[in-house]
Amino acid sequence: MRRIGVMTTGGDCAGLNAAIRAVVRRAVGHHGLEVIGIHQGTMGLLEDPPRAEPLTLAMADAGLLRAGGTILGSVNRGTPFSFPLPDGGVTDLSAKIHAGVAKLGLDAIIGIGGDGSMRIMHRLMQTGHFPFVGIPKTIDNDLGATEYAIGHHTAVEVAMEALDRLQPTAASHNRIMVLEVMGRDAGHIALAAGIAGGADVILIPEIPWRMAPVAAAIRALRERGRNFALVVVAEAVRTAEGETVFAGPSAPGAMPRLGGVGARIANALEKATGAEARVTVLGHVQRGGSPGALDRIVASSMGVHAVDLAVAGRFGRIVVWAEGRVGDAPVDQAAGAARPVDPEGDMVRVARGLGICLGDR
Ligand code: F6P
Repeated sequence: MRRIGVMTTGGDCAGLNAAIRAVVRRAVGHHGLEVIGIHQGTMGLLEDPPRAEPLTLAMADAGLLRAGGTILGSVNRGTPFSFPLPDGGVTDLSAKIHAGVAKLGLDAIIGIGGDGSMRIMHRLMQTGHFPFVGIPKTIDNDLGATEYAIGHHTAVEVAMEALDRLQPTAASHNRIMVLEVMGRDAGHIALAAGIAGGADVILIPEIPWRMAPVAAAIRALRERGRNFALVVVAEAVRTAEGETVFAGPSAPGAMPRLGGVGARIANALEKATGAEARVTVLGHVQRGGSPGALDRIVASSMGVHAVDLAVAGRFGRIVVWAEGRVGDAPVDQAAGAARPVDPEGDMVRVARGLGICLGDR
């Protein structure tokens, strides 16, 4: 083992640079290896010569722990196995990716990505020499195999801070404040932020909702003297009638990214309760910026473990966080295995225990 490549794939989140820093510090500082940063994910491997540069300890020390985004960049053009062509057709570029790995002389590749990326990496391992170790990241926290993915905690903290700021203005004007958060098809951010930020109602895709219990919950608040309500909605929610209302990009017939879900729910709440409502759509604020403490710890632990797996020749593994510590699992356990909120799980139990309305009763 002489040279490790590292890349970031898919959407960015807080903590990616902290993970890159950990990889460099462990690989260069501890194991005496070279680390090559591959730019723009697998796109960097397609170029000739590949778009890549050595990452040094000095670069790792230059504020990476704190920095948002990814210094390596991440272009998302779908799968290289059916790469879109300008004429509307598709082509398989996987051989070029394998050639890029060979050109860079990489003995290992550490890829920091979400479920889509892990699926691609898993397939690349099956179609050629691709000595891969994965590190999970996604603010949505819906990757199978791991309890936490890099970026989730910071997104939750940002949404919690938004609720802290919405509460006083809601109370000043007797309003219902609807906060729409990200999460794609999963409600982990909404549920965690709603609990942490004192929401009265949390609507998530895993629990179909109806207006009657939500309006009743808001009326009950009024009856006990409360003049405001905080409502957190995931960008995808499902009504009890089965209608899916989705603001995210992955659903067929997705709504325009203009805060569709939150606005619709705020309008409906005004009609049902007679109270004035306002909507805030947090959007990409949840992804950018400096990582919180837990994301720094998770990213650092995962970066170190990924390098150790590579040095031990344990390829085809993804680093995971389970029961309070770092470990690893086969990549295919994370490839395509979504982990939605468990409607009977601990977090839902906590929310119900606090008297938060989840829209179903
Ligand atoms: O998967 C991460 C995520 O931020 C989702 O929560 C959100 O639906 C989506 O990506 C936004 O994607 P884009 O940055 O392409 O608009």
